[in-house]
Amino acid sequence: MLRRTSLALFAGALFATGSLLTAMAQTSAQTSTAFVNTLMPEPAHLSVQSGVLPLTTSFTAATDSFHDQRLDDAIARMLTQLENHTGLQIALTPSASKSATLLITVDGPGEAVQSVDEDESYSLDVTPTGAHLKAATDVGAMRGLETFLQLVQNDSTSYFVPAVSIQDTPRFRWRGLMIDCSRHFEPVDVIKRTLDGMAAVKLNVFHWHLSDDQGFRIQSKVFPKLTEMGSNGEFYTQDQAREIVAYARARGIRVVPEFDIPGHAQAWYVGYPQLASAPGPYTISPVFGVLDATMDPTQKSTYKFLDKFIGEMAKIFPDPYMHVGGDENNGVQWKNNPHIQEFMQKHNMHTTADLQTYFEQQLMPILKKHGKHMVGWDEIFEPGLSKDAVIQSWRGFDSLAASAKQGYDGILSAGYYLDHIDSAGQHYLVDPLPANGDLTPEQQAHILGGEACMWGEHVSPRSIDSRIWPRTAAIAERLWSPQSVNNVDDMYRRLWVENLRLEALGLTQISNQDVALRQLAGTGAIQPLRILASVLQPVGFDQRYKLQHTTQLTPMDHLIDAVRPDPPSLHGMQVLVRDYLAGNDPQAGIKLETIFQHWIAAGPQAQALMTASPLLNDAAPRAQQLVDLGTTGEEALNYLAKHEAAPAGWAQTRLELIDQAQQPAGLVRFTVLDPLRDLVKAAQQ
Ligand code: ACM
Repeated sequence: MLRRTSLALFAGALFATGSLLTAMAQTSAQTSTAFVNTLMPEPAHLSVQSGVLPLTTSFTAATDSFHDQRLDDAIARMLTQLENHTGLQIALTPSASKSATLLITVDGPGEAVQSVDEDESYSLDVTPTGAHLKAATDVGAMRGLETFLQLVQNDSTSYFVPAVSIQDTPRFRWRGLMIDCSRHFEPVDVIKRTLDGMAAVKLNVFHWHLSDDQGFRIQSKVFPKLTEMGSNGEFYTQDQAREIVAYARARGIRVVPEFDIPGHAQAWYVGYPQLASAPGPYTISPVFGVLDATMDPTQKSTYKFLDKFIGEMAKIFPDPYMHVGGDENNGVQWKNNPHIQEFMQKHNMHTTADLQTYFEQQLMPILKKHGKHMVGWDEIFEPGLSKDAVIQSWRGFDSLAASAKQGYDGILSAGYYLDHIDSAGQHYLVDPLPANGDLTPEQQAHILGGEACMWGEHVSPRSIDSRIWPRTAAIAERLWSPQSVNNVDDMYRRLWVENLRLEALGLTQISNQDVALRQLAGTGAIQPLRILASVLQPVGFDQRYKLQHTTQLTPMDHLIDAVRPDPPSLHGMQVLVRDYLAGNDPQAGIKLETIFQHWIAAGPQAQALMTASPLLNDAAPRAQQLVDLGTTGEEALNYLAKHEAAPAGWAQTRLELIDQAQQPAGLVRFTVLDPLRDLVKAAQQ
């Protein structure tokens, strides 16, 4: 009975608050001082030694060679995190003593302006008597400090770091996260906590999508109407942008700004309609999608404007790359403008793609003059494009490979779109250099890396953390770790640990769900809703857009905004059913039974809360479905336990019920339907 009760508590916590896998990793850490690898990303080389380095109040960290303010600050941040994690009162600044517990030997500073070739490698040796971190630059040292923090384990009485020897270096040089701050503005604090998360998982590029049809988000003093008329008052001042650049640099992260032109640029034309290819007037577009408004590439005045603007921005953003978008220009305004048509004929241009290439060709020397390489989405990859351009592939892998074959550098984002609401496991298996690719080593060297993309249509400052994290940590591992590190189960095991570490940095990807549920339900007593929410996730981008007809003005305050993409139940349930059916886990049956009982018990209470709330009403059918799914699971377990085939027709009815639950309702979808199908099919036999 006792065993059953503790399992019930365990399973109740399972999908509602945390995860089975987190619990398992922590349990093993509590009962053993053996090394439990929760590193994310996995280092290139790791060998486990015997013993542990105990963490005590006398823990100190010191540099014994080069150090500068950036490195000292990074060490101080690490020490604060270590104290927060362990509760040990330790010295929070670097020590002057060479006999420090953690000795940090750094050869020199990182580059004055971090480049794609920055040396981020480090080695970390931990023995029972001390730890030694070595790096060529302070950026490499920062990567090693993050690893050191991830190594911390505990038993029931103490904290310690297992003895290990690590030599680490990234597989790809460009490991980014793009955030679209045009469609929904994200305050400085959100950007800073995101940068903290990026540093924790060793990402090194923050790609800042600062302008689009829905808003111009950075102050220009040369062209003040860009934000005065094109931003609804939500924009970053130049001082704030500099502050973000400095904050990122302090963490070894480059900031690549994007000003999307010639399409996706309607917000520019509100204040400066003369830039567009049709007279206007223009407003900020609350409507998403591909709009007609497009910059006029035939006017010299356009390039004069861009020269001044890019010159101004180049002073704020020191990175050698600047992103100029180039995506989704539908060419409509160009086709409808007689002057532009005449220009195209005169220059022997047959398509609007030709004209866009002309535009990029004019842009290239302007960027060069201001010390910038061009980055653009893969639409810019057309004959005649300068080899200096970097192609960011979002429509598929093919354009990336094709451009690498022609000698262009490239970055992969197809497969890393966070707004599609795919699982971490799906993103994880997308590789910028697939094992079956046909690129020569020289062509492979053109693939700089990849970027996760957080488009802003459907995120708010409250929900953005859960859309970015923890899935981005899986992408970060793909971009840092050796290609051979590709076990999805093991990735998830470590991801749920990293998820907690990320939240401890101040990110809200877990906590926001409860906050939002309490607000939606108007009560603090949300336990039944939490159980339902634990097996729900948002519908994907397209479905939400279609079902809700979202615009920039649509409030992001529904159940869909509360629930998390790829919650622990998605992979956890798959593993549990798989282990149960394969007989791999003697406890799997009782764990499943307990989960199903929780669903059955929670359903009616969740339904009562939902029918009483205007914002939860439309998802209320999900509560009855939760009961039906729980009942289905219980019945399947019973047949399987008794080794008797289910009665004729049972499986069909139950599979139909699961199909029903697959239908759209309330903008949320169940995470557990596939493993339930497996269970029903197994019970049928
Ligand atoms: C894009 O998704 N249009 C780059």
